[in-house]
Amino acid sequence: MTGAPLNIALIGSGFMGRAHTLAFAAADRTFDLPRSPRVTILADRDLGTATAAAASLGIARASGDWRETIADASIDMVAIATPNLLHAPIAIAALEAGKAVYCEKPLATTIAESEAMTAAAAASGLPTAVGFTYLYNPMIVLARELIAGGEIGEVTAFRGIHAEDFMASADAPFNWRCEPDQAGGALADIGSHIIAMARHLVGDIAAVSGRLHTVYPMRRDARGADRAVTVDDQMDAVVEFANGATGTLAASWIASGHKMGLAFEVSGTRGSIAFTQERFSELRLYRSGPGRTNGFTTICAGPEHGDYGAFCPAPGHQIGYNDLKTIEVKAVVEAAAGLPSAAMSFADALAVERVTDAIRRSHREGCWIGLQAAWAGASAASISS
Ligand SMILES: NC(=O)c1ccc[n+]([C@@H]2O[C@H](COP(=O)([O-])OP(=O)(O)OC[C@H]3O[C@@H](n4cnc5c(N)ncnc54)[C@H](O)[C@@H]3O)[C@@H](O)[C@H]2O)c1
Repeated sequence: MTGAPLNIALIGSGFMGRAHTLAFAAADRTFDLPRSPRVTILADRDLGTATAAAASLGIARASGDWRETIADASIDMVAIATPNLLHAPIAIAALEAGKAVYCEKPLATTIAESEAMTAAAAASGLPTAVGFTYLYNPMIVLARELIAGGEIGEVTAFRGIHAEDFMASADAPFNWRCEPDQAGGALADIGSHIIAMARHLVGDIAAVSGRLHTVYPMRRDARGADRAVTVDDQMDAVVEFANGATGTLAASWIASGHKMGLAFEVSGTRGSIAFTQERFSELRLYRSGPGRTNGFTTICAGPEHGDYGAFCPAPGHQIGYNDLKTIEVKAVVEAAAGLPSAAMSFADALAVERVTDAIRRSHREGCWIGLQAAWAGASAASISS
């Protein structure tokens, strides 16, 4: 608890609202921050929900109207942890009111909204950050350093998947993640994480060829009504990176048995790196070479890896998901203070959204979609706007 207060209005108190609250409190005690983050107001869908959640999370004030919290003169930053449909209206209103914005992923529901948010951020000159939490894992920081340092040679391929099974049962209820106008579907909801990871480790994606599949076209909602599902349960894409590497990206929320299978393998001319979020304190590294005992080495996270040591002085004891959120929040506070930061800005997240949008277009049009004019297979018509 060092710097001047950074007063935060949090919108939404579900899974992520709770994670934000815990992370802001922990970050202030874990790191030497330039500002001291304090969630002072919680807004939710109605005052009753907000009041109950604020009491349980130890937040002093509650509101049933997010517009009211944004207008509050004491607020420096707005943290958005709502369904995706609300990201753009809240973020744009907050930026116009002069507040920094920390928004959950995916950036928005459409590429037009994502562009409008990024334009509003640029016009305001205010800091923005987006919650691609898994990029802040000390083992992902290590993977990025190893790749950039040439440890596995020239990268030839990235094969990644974000696999969960929370919708694997036909009885899993229809919810806001199934709504097409809320950026529903596995591609937008969890595919955005593996796209962000691929870009983070390998670089810009130049072209995609993707397919979307709806396995359960009907689900029952909480009121017992049957609702048609038009969004994807799973996505598969072949990709080409700007640096010449190739790969595959997949996302599925019906991947039976996978609870948090954000997993990838990066292959290079002299080795490979393999990772799964289900064992996220480990990174597997293979260095090419002869010998009967040559093979993957498992590197176990410890205080010599990134921010791990801020939580625990002993290797192998492991940190947890909320600690990753705390590391993310450190970057968010640094960005809000105008300092160099590892936070993903709206502009960075827009690049992820362009890939999501290109995969959707590829599925619709049945062809490759180029994202860069320099892509070897590009024709003018196939460049994603
Ligand atoms: N970074 C990550 O690892 C991660 C993980 C899960 C979800 N997310 C993202 O976080 C966001 C929220 O997801 P979640 O899982 O917490 O959802 P959730 O359904 O658990 O919570 C959503 C919250 O928003 C509130 N809300 C709904 N309408 C509102 C309104 N009009 N005004 C104010 N509040 C309103 C709900 O009452 C609830 O408190 C989504 O964008 C999702 O994609 C990110």
